[in-house]
Amino acid sequence: MPTTSTHNHDVIIIGAGAAGLMCAAQAGYRGRDVLVLDHAKQAGKKILISGGGRCNFTNMDVEPNNYLCSNPHFVKSALSRYTQWDFLGLIGKYQVAYHERDFGQLFCDDSAKEIVRILMSECEAANAKIRLRTEITAIEAIKDEQGTITQYTVTTPSHVYQCQSLVIATGGLSMPKLGATPFGYQVAEQFGLKVLPTRAGLVPVTLHQEQKEALSELSGISLPVRIEANDGTVFGADMLITHRGLSGPSILQISNYWNPGEAMSIDLLPNIDLAAELESVRQSNPNQSLKNTLSTWLPKRFVELLMSMENLVDKPIKQLQHKELDSVVAVLHSWQIKPNGTEGYRTAEVTLGGVDTDAISSKTMMCKNINGLYFVGEVLDVTGWLGGYNFQWAWASGWAAGQVC
Ligand code: FDA
Repeated sequence: MPTTSTHNHDVIIIGAGAAGLMCAAQAGYRGRDVLVLDHAKQAGKKILISGGGRCNFTNMDVEPNNYLCSNPHFVKSALSRYTQWDFLGLIGKYQVAYHERDFGQLFCDDSAKEIVRILMSECEAANAKIRLRTEITAIEAIKDEQGTITQYTVTTPSHVYQCQSLVIATGGLSMPKLGATPFGYQVAEQFGLKVLPTRAGLVPVTLHQEQKEALSELSGISLPVRIEANDGTVFGADMLITHRGLSGPSILQISNYWNPGEAMSIDLLPNIDLAAELESVRQSNPNQSLKNTLSTWLPKRFVELLMSMENLVDKPIKQLQHKELDSVVAVLHSWQIKPNGTEGYRTAEVTLGGVDTDAISSKTMMCKNINGLYFVGEVLDVTGWLGGYNFQWAWASGWAAGQVC
């Protein structure tokens, strides 16, 4: 279709996701004429499927160290100016019922649709317009005689738009099925910004064929574990065995800190001191077999498989030599698993890496050296832990840009 007309707006936001919608409402409330463009046919698609359809929209306990970023200080300003309590204020304004789960995670009682309804209502109240099903074919900067950018041109198949402030809120690469694209990274590169290497985060890991086949028989079993990555980062939560490998909250969390080729050390009995427990069984029940003893704490089928994978011989506890006991304790408290990869962007919740924050103001999200160009949300090199931290970053960074764009 030929380009037909030019429309002027104060602010154009590309991406009607969590960060883009928050930014749009904030800028709109300041009286700015705001237009949000998105190629999807629905706004906030990731919000809708998040948290199993109930959206883990924030966390009771948000700290900068819940985030990975090449500059760990970058997140501090935005997170402290728009906090989880501010978002809870919005939840209260719309009377959305919510509940707290483990680790301070806050979910809607009913549906993630309520979060999208809040954001859409806020945009409407702030008079920010949203145009969906809109492909962006080009972005250009218009400069004055001194070479300073004064305006941006955003071209779509049907319109050319001009704006003073251009906000890129196109998110990361996870779940291409939901409309994720590398658009934001391409815009950053077009303007000479560095994009740090990206990879899938908060993602299940896959195993080498032999381990995968052995463990897949137990798919569906979930165990409370404590997992340590090579860099010493530790997460304690459930681990789920799947027919492709390992998943569950502990695995998703550690996947952000795991690098290909490295092993993970899994404490399968994080709540007991196995050496002490085995010693006590040796005294109280010396004829009990190792398998039966371990099966008091772990599912029997898992114990059988683990013993065969790790060559642990089954015999009465009283017959175990000290060296054998040490091996049992080592396997159970630090089971070494070397994933062969992750399930990738197809199932990842987030993208690690992205637009380098060195070039971005942590207060406003505007590029330090490019007047009027902003990046918010997951497109930046900011990745939160599992638990509502990624949405909190989207709200906080979108809010920060919305105060000034
Ligand atoms: P987001 O991805 O939300 O929005 C980007 C928007 O840009 C989309 O609307 C997209 O269509 C649009 N776009 C992309 N390319 C475009 C282009 N070329 N042209 C036009 N538009 C374009 N986090 C959390 O805190 N709690 C949770 O419960 C979950 N759960 C969860 C489940 C699943 C399955 C996933 C995949 C992710 C989560 N997350 C999460 C992560 C969370 O969804 C994510 O971090 C935020 O949505 C990021 O917000 P953004 O606004 O930055 O991007």
